Amino acid sequence: MCGIIGYIGKQQALPILIDGLKKLEYRGYDSAGFAVHSGEGVVVKKAVGQVANLEKAILDSSFQILDSNIGIAHTRWATHGVPNEVNSHPHTDCKQRVFVAHNGIIENYKELKHYLQERGHTFTSATDTEVVAHLIEDFINQGDDFEKALKLALNMLRGAYAFAIIDAENSAVLYAAKCQSPLVIGLGQQEHFLASDPSALITHTKNAVYLNDFEMAKISAGEITIENIRREPTDTKVVTLEWNLEQAQKGNYQHFMQKEIFEGPETVKLAFAGRLHEAGVKLGGLEQVKEKLETIKRVIICACGTSYYAGLVGEYLFEEIAGIPVETHFASEFRYRQEPFEPGTAAIFISQSGETADTLGALRKAKENGLLTLGIVNVVGSTIARETDAGVYNHAGPEIGVASTKAFLSQITVLALMAEYLAKVKRPGLLEELRNIPGKIGAILARASEIEKLAEKYLYHKNFIFLGRRYNYPTALEGALKLKEISYLHAEGYGAGELKHGPIAMIGKEFPTIALVPGNGVLEKMYSNLEEIKARSGPILAIATEGDQHISAIASDVFYIPATLEPLEPLLTVVPLQLLAYYIGAKLGYNVDKPRNLAKSVTVE
Ligand code: M6R
Repeated sequence: MCGIIGYIGKQQALPILIDGLKKLEYRGYDSAGFAVHSGEGVVVKKAVGQVANLEKAILDSSFQILDSNIGIAHTRWATHGVPNEVNSHPHTDCKQRVFVAHNGIIENYKELKHYLQERGHTFTSATDTEVVAHLIEDFINQGDDFEKALKLALNMLRGAYAFAIIDAENSAVLYAAKCQSPLVIGLGQQEHFLASDPSALITHTKNAVYLNDFEMAKISAGEITIENIRREPTDTKVVTLEWNLEQAQKGNYQHFMQKEIFEGPETVKLAFAGRLHEAGVKLGGLEQVKEKLETIKRVIICACGTSYYAGLVGEYLFEEIAGIPVETHFASEFRYRQEPFEPGTAAIFISQSGETADTLGALRKAKENGLLTLGIVNVVGSTIARETDAGVYNHAGPEIGVASTKAFLSQITVLALMAEYLAKVKRPGLLEELRNIPGKIGAILARASEIEKLAEKYLYHKNFIFLGRRYNYPTALEGALKLKEISYLHAEGYGAGELKHGPIAMIGKEFPTIALVPGNGVLEKMYSNLEEIKARSGPILAIATEGDQHISAIASDVFYIPATLEPLEPLLTVVPLQLLAYYIGAKLGYNVDKPRNLAKSVTVE
């Protein structure tokens, strides 16, 4: 939700800011803008839509690449106020001294706005962010210096924020502040960078410092000072960014989503690399809580979106492999429910970004209730990774496509490893088969053109139902989510057994079913459910195991996948679903990497 970038140093700021915005664009693309110090004061430019429009606006206005070494920029996912130029960031105060780029939501902005209006401030936008510029101005009007005014203002805010701020009267300092929304400072030689996430920094530096909540940074070219606005101790660590530039680029692929689907085999390998040993699974990140884990009686999994569906697969994995009862919750629901917790409960938080506000809120609730908290997170150093007691990183590399694909594979791989790690009696053959999975995903991807043809056939339909049972029930939910988020077609996922309890009413020749029918213990039940659909003229595209001769008599189309153990099936069955969604979305002409209304990292509630 919104990307912010800042630069101070010896280079021209504007090209760095624009390049950073492009890398962060997946966080929001309703509008973009920047503010840079130039010889003539602070220059601001904004444009509605994607960063390309901002670039075009720069060219169209014969705007010079200014001689500027300090600036901030923002790409917006609209929360308060429609996506127009006025509501674009950076926002400023009455005297145009304070310039603010913001990611998050200021929850008490209405009362602050009212207070400031009473004190004579004039607002131009409908955003929550603008109050921050005026609030800082108000303290300056009362005689405080900029830094103190900023600190006082921050202490009055409720909600979530990551700020990049510049002062028109000081071109040697960039300010940053964070509460709930992510912010990372990249460290260079006599230069510093500021970004919502490391993907915008890796072109410039491998060394970074993540700000913690309630921390504020004063950044000059040669120095950074970080302080806690509540006067609590700060915890500043320099981390090495793992990602490389190539991982964050599209290469020869048309879209990041396509590239990330094709990274599936490598993603699974990276998730188990160094973790499979003769004696079983080793998870270094869990060693410090190993003894506690040995006494665990119950597990709660919390996550959102695709990570939630991975969590649902985790429920089956933990219960069947480790024999531990599990409940998986939407993080947004878990956060506000009131349930009794028993000693011996561990809570697992799954998040690709490690910054999802709902998941973070659920994590904080679990901590308040004394639960052991574990993370399955992709972005190293992200807030959820830092705030959990222990955890396992995905090591999947950057996921740029807004529709999550490789993260799902990685999360399930890690969940399978954790289930085996916790199991008192190991599941025969599971780890050996896990080693075979990358090759089997590769074999599916080698036949992507078959899915492309199926996409051409099915894209004329407006409604879809995705069905599966057991491990493939969450996979069906994920398949439906993929299709709806990038093709804007209506798709629902169901447990196949539930069909007859209502959804079958929708079935007819215009309502296709995408059925996950691998050769497992519920295969015959799936056949029966599909016969019921066939009897009602519903077209069926089945994802089935190689060698299944019976399915072709029921389904209109079949895509065959290699056989595997049932607990690992989602790692194979989801791949054709990801491809199907990708090809349908792309063939319908949509920007599959940046679907409308969505943002990659959802840092607001
Ligand atoms: O970064 P997270 O894994 O916490 O993100 C959770 C969801 O917002 C995310 O999976 C979202 O549902 C994706 N758009 C799904 O493709």
